[in-house]
Amino acid sequence: MAKAKTQFICQNCGTVHSRWAGKCDGCGEWNTIVEEDPMGGIGSGPGKAPKKGRPVTLTSLSGEIEEAPRIPTGMGELDRATGGGFVRGSAVLIGGDPGIGKSTLLMQAAAALARRGHRVIYVSGEEAVAQVRLRAQRLGAADTDVLLAAETNVEDILATISEGKRPDLVIIDSIQTLWSDTADSAPGTVTQVRTGVQAMIRFAKQTGATMVLVGHVTKEGQIAGPRVVEHMVDAVLYFEGDRGHHYRILRTVKNRFGPTDEIGVFEMSDKGLREVANPSELFLGERNEKAPGAAVFAGMEGTRPVLVEVQALVAATSLGTPRRAVVGWDSSRLAMILAVLEAHCGVRLGQHDVYLNVAGGYRISEPAADMAIASALVSSLAGIALPADCVYFGEVSLSGAVRPVAHTAQRLKEAEKLGFSAAVLPAASPDLPKGSAGKWREVDSLPDLVARIAGSRLKAPTGQEDG
Ligand code: TYD
Ligand code: MG
Repeated sequence: MAKAKTQFICQNCGTVHSRWAGKCDGCGEWNTIVEEDPMGGIGSGPGKAPKKGRPVTLTSLSGEIEEAPRIPTGMGELDRATGGGFVRGSAVLIGGDPGIGKSTLLMQAAAALARRGHRVIYVSGEEAVAQVRLRAQRLGAADTDVLLAAETNVEDILATISEGKRPDLVIIDSIQTLWSDTADSAPGTVTQVRTGVQAMIRFAKQTGATMVLVGHVTKEGQIAGPRVVEHMVDAVLYFEGDRGHHYRILRTVKNRFGPTDEIGVFEMSDKGLREVANPSELFLGERNEKAPGAAVFAGMEGTRPVLVEVQALVAATSLGTPRRAVVGWDSSRLAMILAVLEAHCGVRLGQHDVYLNVAGGYRISEPAADMAIASALVSSLAGIALPADCVYFGEVSLSGAVRPVAHTAQRLKEAEKLGFSAAVLPAASPDLPKGSAGKWREVDSLPDLVARIAGSRLKAPTGQEDG
């Protein structure tokens, strides 16, 4: 009989190798290659007759829906990000850079839930009991009934949390420290992390406890092991922020039970994380209204409007190739705006370095920021400060046209609430509020916008003196 041929498949990227190796050529991961039998499975030739399947009842899309039972923490920003509280029996992954505040956030959430009478178990694999207690004291959580364990072995953890009354919430800090007797690779490897997480998820599904898993993000921005966990859990939240700044954003990237575009905003203080219900005030905090190169962008984060200042510095270069540096925005999007400014507006930036910064370490992902960025760039180049009471939003296309964006009314309402009386926005914005006190200046193209900014001092022929 011919020898059965086996394949070696990388469990991370799926690359097939002819022989085993420690490192996958495809993705560069270590210890991810596993021997598999390609002839296994359906139609694998002679041998056992395939097992006859049992038909399941097909059903329709309409019918009774059960609302997922949730346990709200009472921390508004955390509940907003999870979609109204932790869902019972679900597994939630919280990722983030080391030191960003994941353990702090979860200790505060644990304390809040314990105060509401829930049974919460906090399993720390990274810190000793004394360290966790110290943090709890600092957070004013030491008097709550959170149950604490310092343990990393999966079987021991399962035995512990299965004992006694079913917990409502179990926190595992972190998945990188989990190790199981059943997998024989080192802690922190893909196999160990996956085995550990699988066991925790099974416990959540079986008992109805909510499992919160902490995962450290590697340099490349992935949760190690490389995305093996993200698809297994019900929700993935990233805790992000700039270590140099005080506030942190909890961003939902996957949620089987709620929206994925919500953010929760917190500020790190010496007594832990403080909720920030109105992020705009935070991002506009240190504004210098008279400086050229600053524009306020009226953005949206999920259902919530956020006002944030974008700052540009355009300066003559001393280098052969001018520099373009961006913090908080997409650099290829900046390149696009610069190209449109050059091609359609006659703005020459080839001899200038361009620096762009979004205030306070915030990250903008909306294309609606195009207009604000373009305004800041032109303002800096021309040395003309933009009006301090004006916000900007709108998407710019490659042809130089300005396109309307969604949620016009909400953006304007937030701007008015924070004392902005004017807005530069795309012409033909669909839901422009009528009869409002604000001065809404509609522009239909980027050349129009540039002319208006320049016109406020240079009186260009096309400029309209209304800014
Ligand atoms: P931590 O929650 O341990 O981060 P992670 O679990 O994501 O690795 O918090 C890290 C930082 O937060 C640490 O450098 C100290 C700071 N911190 C405060 O500023 N105030 C506080 O009340 C606490 C508990 C931590
Ligand atoms: Mg930690």
